[in-house]
Amino acid sequence: MSKNIYLPKLARIAGIKDEVPGARGIKTFFVEFPDGDGFEHECGQCAMISVFGKGESMISIASAPAVKEYKQFSIMRTGRVTTAIHDMKPGDIVGVRGPYGNKFPLENWKGRNLVFIGGGVGLAPIWPVIQTAVANRADFGKISVFYGARTSRDIMYAEALEALRGAADVHLSIDAPEEGWQGFCGFVPANLLDKPQSPDNAVAVTCGPPIMIKFVIKNLIGMGFADEQIYTTIENKMKCGVGKCGRCNAGKDYVCVNGPVYSWAQLKDMPQEY
Ligand SMILES: Cc1cc2nc3c(=O)[nH]c(=O)nc-3n(C[C@H](O)[C@H](O)[C@H](O)COP(=O)(O)OP(=O)(O)OC[C@H]3O[C@@H](n4cnc5c(N)ncnc54)[C@H](O)[C@@H]3O)c2cc1C
Ligand code: FES
Repeated sequence: MSKNIYLPKLARIAGIKDEVPGARGIKTFFVEFPDGDGFEHECGQCAMISVFGKGESMISIASAPAVKEYKQFSIMRTGRVTTAIHDMKPGDIVGVRGPYGNKFPLENWKGRNLVFIGGGVGLAPIWPVIQTAVANRADFGKISVFYGARTSRDIMYAEALEALRGAADVHLSIDAPEEGWQGFCGFVPANLLDKPQSPDNAVAVTCGPPIMIKFVIKNLIGMGFADEQIYTTIENKMKCGVGKCGRCNAGKDYVCVNGPVYSWAQLKDMPQEY
């Protein structure tokens, strides 16, 4: 009999880290495959996480491909499935199928300066790229990481971002002033404008709310970045994850197969179905 492509692997939640509190809080789940039945992945790929009896959600794999012991998923509580995942405890079993989608072409970026710009839970899809670039620090030029959240309590990976300093220039922002805040106050695109980045030999990668991405790309282009130098990911709703159901369709693309990683040169010519 042929293998059922929708059948998830069983995985155990080995640990949970509370990242951001609140109704739309974020938790990071560290997931292990107890029978050694895991899978390799590339930076930018996703996996379908299932909670039995509730449903499935497509989630970016936030750990670097070099990390073999577990897969990391940082999940915002949004609705039915993500709330069910948030209610789970270490030791609970989830379904994981994947990896799905394309990847960031990091191997083509060796020797270049990298500028990462994230907002909210949008740091998760670009986190494996940042981690891999920093782990191979000598392969890349200057690394800059911009990240913004609504308030200081909404900053995910807070300690890990601090630990990046030294290997990368880290520029944090919150939307409005707070007592004791040392970083930038204002939206992420404004923080980027405040610290203009040279397009020379550089690649910029951005992920976050669509409105943030729109203005980040506008500002990067204003700084002289070419469309081919700007990468982002798109999050069309997905069901099958394998190019069969058409749920994620954008133009001629199945985003679950051809995406979610696109250069702006590719994306700007696609119909606005993302
Ligand atoms: C490629 C890809 C990568 C993703 N990576 C992450 C990640 O790393 N972390 C994370 O927290 N989330 C990620 N998401 C979004 C995540 O899949 C959805 O938030 C989740 O499926 C919502 O499921 P739910 O049952 O909890 O919400 P539902 O009850 O289905 O919906 C709740 C609300 O969220 C909206 N919604 C549902 N799915 C999406 C979606 N894909 N995009 C925008 N709005 C949606 C619904 O319209 C509704 O308003 C990703 C999505 C894609 C396609
Ligand atoms: S999610 Fe089914 S085709 Fe992409």
